[in-house]
Amino acid sequence: MTSGIVYRPRRLRATPRIRRLVAEHRLHAADLVLPLFVKEGLAEPAPITSMPGQVQHTLDTLGEAVAAAARAGLGGVMLFGIPAVRDAVGSQGDAPDGILQRGIAAARAAVAEFEAATGRPGPVVMADTCLDEFTDHGHCGVLTADGAVDNDATLERYAAMAVAQARAGADVVAPSGMMDGQVAVIRDALDDAGYQDVSILAYSAKYASPFYGPFREAVDSALQGDRRTYQMDAANLREGLREADLDLAEGADIVMVKPAMSYLDVLHAVAERSDVPVAAYQVSGEYAMIEAAAANGWIDRDAAIKESVLSIKRAGADVILTYWALEIAEWIR
Ligand code: PBG
Repeated sequence: MTSGIVYRPRRLRATPRIRRLVAEHRLHAADLVLPLFVKEGLAEPAPITSMPGQVQHTLDTLGEAVAAAARAGLGGVMLFGIPAVRDAVGSQGDAPDGILQRGIAAARAAVAEFEAATGRPGPVVMADTCLDEFTDHGHCGVLTADGAVDNDATLERYAAMAVAQARAGADVVAPSGMMDGQVAVIRDALDDAGYQDVSILAYSAKYASPFYGPFREAVDSALQGDRRTYQMDAANLREGLREADLDLAEGADIVMVKPAMSYLDVLHAVAERSDVPVAAYQVSGEYAMIEAAAANGWIDRDAAIKESVLSIKRAGADVILTYWALEIAEWIR
């Protein structure tokens, strides 16, 4: 006597081996990019309270972290610098001996050492191309006399930063300030300076978000107020697609959506229309939420991490920036 059920999807869920065989998406270490912070003048790594397990690195421990990323087979590292001195225009952002430039050089040295020793590719060295870590007011750009963020004056600063980062050895520069025209200006500046092979990962659809909260601690941010005149409004999907289209037209090599989990619809839509690789950034607040719930015993930490990152992959990300990159790489080895 048959039940009348035409097909039984549960057959393909019955054992771990059949589930593994039919999984539609998988994570690879090479898809993952680890964000890292390097701070000027530190004697020892300093824990970031709101991001348990993450630290502000010294130049030495940054090199060690990049070497660990290389051994884990990660696709990249994304570097952020925290200078000892800040000013109105973020001078340390493009100073040749600025902390981010020194961090990039240390990272490239660690990658070169790994590649020479193993013959395998190390992680791509990426750098945040933005002024907020370097300005005394904490905004991502320079300000006009009345305190507004000046788009076109900021573009000149981004161009100088991108060239300084390329000169220090960055494989990829990542403009994250959401200024109009930033990709085109950076592309021109890199090409003029002879860095045609340095790629641009554009933070294309970057939303103004409370989920960046822990990051502000990670970079000792001085920001008062918010970034709503340049980062996007959470209400807008269509505008995110337009931002991605503009960046593609300006020559972005990779486009990114950020944050990830609250914007999986935007990520999916960008991935559908993009003919370049698409990245997503699982930001500090996404990390902190799962870590905090797990620390309270309210959630299965490892399973929640895996599900969260897999959801980003499923939505269409080719490249995923996540603070758990090293740990995930261990799990999927
Ligand atoms: C800007 C920048 C920010 C993040 C990455 N690049 C902060 C911001 O826009 O306020 C946030 C990353 C995170 O929260 O993990 N330099």
